[in-house]
Amino acid sequence: MLFITLEGPDGSGKTSQIPLLAGAIRAAGYDLVVTREPGGTPIGDEVRQVIMDLKHKGQMHPTTEILLFQASRAQLVNEVIRPALAAGKVVLCDRYADSTLAYQGYGHQTDLAALRQIVQFATGGLTPDLTLLLDIDAEAGLRRRAGDSGQWNRMDAYQVEFHRRVRAGYHALAAAEPARWVTIHADRDPAAIQADLQQVVLDRLISR
Ligand code: TYD
Repeated sequence: MLFITLEGPDGSGKTSQIPLLAGAIRAAGYDLVVTREPGGTPIGDEVRQVIMDLKHKGQMHPTTEILLFQASRAQLVNEVIRPALAAGKVVLCDRYADSTLAYQGYGHQTDLAALRQIVQFATGGLTPDLTLLLDIDAEAGLRRRAGDSGQWNRMDAYQVEFHRRVRAGYHALAAAEPARWVTIHADRDPAAIQADLQQVVLDRLISR
């Protein structure tokens, strides 16, 4: 009945905010399904393993990776998201099609028009009603993910540049569809971020 996605660069704190947001939506009386990408189904979780394992070994061709993300997504849309929406539920998904456009499109600079076509094929055109962008500066996000450990020093300039492009991509996507996107500044106290998330989502649910 309402399809909500969370997007943001790595280290935006998205994943730790979701359980609290889910609790608030349920407490307000809505039937909620929480899921994530890549994964969210038994088949999708296996595809996720393939993406993650091979990515670390640097063996996977970028086209293969793009198609695997879409394979996981197609399964999730058809097995979980569409049935839940048809049953009148709220769906909250940690990443969705916009991650492909931001990461593979803007980040890795794959042709956006081609990506939009395969995303359309994978999702059957299912678009979120509301997309929350947890927006954080590339360096701050990477540092947060590294937990301010020595890992940060080992991150090369390429990685920072990549995450800058991803963030700029999110900004472009949000600017192109302002009715769907709400941007939340994520380099703040987690409780303040959570309060904003709950306000946006509950307002939207009430005003439906
Ligand atoms: P994950 O461990 O789920 O990280 P996060 O908590 O940041 O969501 O890893 C997902 C990674 O895959 C993340 O770096 C974003 C990337 N990704 C893409 O590049 N394209 C996609 O279509 C999706 C869904 C994710």
